[in-house]
Amino acid sequence: MEFSVSRKIIVALIILAAISIYITFTFNSCLVSNISNRVPKWRRTSVVNEIPLIHYTSSVRVVSLLEGNETDLSPKYKLFKEQGLRPERQLPEALIIGVKKGGTRALLEFIRIHPDVRAAGSEVHFFDKNYHKGFQWYREHMPPTLEGQLTIEKTPSYFITKEAPRRVHMMNLSTKLLVVVRDPVTRAISDYTQAVSKKPDMKSFENLVFINGTVGSIVDTSWGPIKLGLYYKYLTRWLKFFPLSQLLFISGERLIQDPAIELKRVQDFLGLKKVVTEKHFYFNSTKGFPCLFKSEGHSAPHCLGKTKGRSHPYVDPLVLQRLRDFYRPFNMRFYQMTGINFGWP
Ligand SMILES: *[C@@H]1O[C@H](CO)[C@@H](O)[C@H](O)[C@H]1NC(C)=O
Ligand SMILES: *[C@@H]1O[C@H](CO)[C@@H](O)[C@H](O)[C@H]1NC(C)=O
Ligand SMILES: *[C@@H]1O[C@H](CO)[C@@H](O)[C@H](O)[C@H]1NC(C)=O
Ligand SMILES: *[C@@H]1O[C@H](CO)[C@@H](O)[C@H](O)[C@H]1NC(C)=O
Repeated sequence: MEFSVSRKIIVALIILAAISIYITFTFNSCLVSNISNRVPKWRRTSVVNEIPLIHYTSSVRVVSLLEGNETDLSPKYKLFKEQGLRPERQLPEALIIGVKKGGTRALLEFIRIHPDVRAAGSEVHFFDKNYHKGFQWYREHMPPTLEGQLTIEKTPSYFITKEAPRRVHMMNLSTKLLVVVRDPVTRAISDYTQAVSKKPDMKSFENLVFINGTVGSIVDTSWGPIKLGLYYKYLTRWLKFFPLSQLLFISGERLIQDPAIELKRVQDFLGLKKVVTEKHFYFNSTKGFPCLFKSEGHSAPHCLGKTKGRSHPYVDPLVLQRLRDFYRPFNMRFYQMTGINFGWP
């Protein structure tokens, strides 16, 4: 009799314990998601990572890291959503830092075909113009990514921004840096062509290149389009903060002539599987530019934007010769620093 009473009590206690454990567990999971929702937005990412419960309950997955009205309509993103995956925004792991008119847009368009790469849509100008807005602002300008995806941003003016190397280093000293370079003479003409398309009353290229505006006199190195081509000078600044192994130099010429070769180097450098290959490109001989069969946001073939590959003005061959002579020693220096001969004339 006594024995059976205590057995009933034990059974009752076990049931009671089971119920209370269940209630506590459920209550805590709710609490966790409530807390996560209440913490300031800038802390959410790390807070969620610190909560050990993430491994035990699926309710944490439901904690929204995105705004309710997130409108990223890319096909990739929709796919994740269908699979119930929740992308988060991350600071970039790799940056395309330059150079202006070197082919940075082409590189970005090509590399973002890769399913493990997500790129900020437009130039964010964080490390030059918007640095005072802080890293949280920067992160908000990045696309949502899943674990294992690489966030990348392109702003070509970073390469020549004095403070940029230190600032990027402060964000993460492991940041990978991509630099698309191109013959500084054609780059300068391209730079000028873009400027003159916005400001048609600009002086002629020849006039601006030389200090006295006379062909053959001293090259005006204070003129932006000329100065920017002194790549070795800007590279010196970056090398004060980053080892050479953390920079990848991409030939702007080869990126257009044979994108697959350069894209292989880029994918290796970024530690990505080789997905982007010659199969993705075809050459449009009318335009003189490679086109993509398919890319993010375009199901049809698409060539580089219509402003790319605009025709350059006629430049006196004597001026070209003078400029090539001017750049030669600086190019040599750049080849020595990078260990790559870009073969500029
Ligand atoms: C949705 O978008 C509006 C403006 O478009 C914004 O004010 C709001 O914060 C966004 N997020 C949510 C959750 O509504
Ligand atoms: C810096 O980047 C590396 C590689 O992308 C990453 O593993 C590391 O967590 C980052 N460090 C910080 C402090 O974000
Ligand atoms: C530029 O022109 C000025 C006068 O017009 C002349 O004194 C000077 O020597 C010239 N400089 C060069 C580099 O040709
Ligand atoms: C090639 O480029 C020209 C000029 O931009 C364009 O009209 C044409 O549709 C392009 N062809 C293909 C196959 O992409």
